Amino acid sequence: MDLKIQYNCNNINWDLVSEILKKGEMAYFSGEVHKKAFENSHTVVFVFHEDKLIGFGRAISDGVYQAVIYDVAVLPEYHGKGIGKEIVNNIIKCIPTCNFILYASPGKEAFYEKLNFKKMKTAMGLFINAEKVRDKGITE
Ligand SMILES: CC(C)(COP(=O)(O)OP(=O)(O)OC[C@H]1O[C@@H](n2cnc3c(N)ncnc32)[C@H](O)[C@@H]1OP(=O)(O)O)[C@@H](O)C(=O)NCCC(=O)NCCS
Repeated sequence: MDLKIQYNCNNINWDLVSEILKKGEMAYFSGEVHKKAFENSHTVVFVFHEDKLIGFGRAISDGVYQAVIYDVAVLPEYHGKGIGKEIVNNIIKCIPTCNFILYASPGKEAFYEKLNFKKMKTAMGLFINAEKVRDKGITE
């Protein structure tokens, strides 16, 4: 498949970003909110197939030793083609000296395990919507 990878936020349809996150059952907001989040991130990766946005991910980071990955999502019709893996690996390649952490959506842990991520024993989170996050199975 002829894929194009983009490492900046130029000409992104932010409403589509919101739509893809929604389809992936991830937290989603208005396009404007995602624009701000991606533009304020250290590293962004967008994947296009024939000029159509089909997936993305981002990392917030100091650029040197710590990074957190968020919003990794691929359009459902493109799942299982190695695109999610490509997104995460490309984020890592952009800031290769960093440690990476993330919290997986429940059920998606195995995807990250295949990319060599390990479960963290002492992860702690403080969330705005604590109850919702607990109900989703992310916190105890
Ligand atoms: C999770 C997601 C990004 C994976 O993207 P994808 O392009 O389908 O995954 P890939 O094809 O790159 O898969 C890479 C490997 O992980 C495996 N994998 C993918 N999804 C998996 C899952 N849910 N459970 C277990 N393994 C999974 C694949 O079988 C593949 O294994 P292989 O290398 O041995 O062939 C995609 O399913 C998605 O967008 N889901 C909705 C949003 C979401 O949940 N994002 C993650 C939030 S933490």
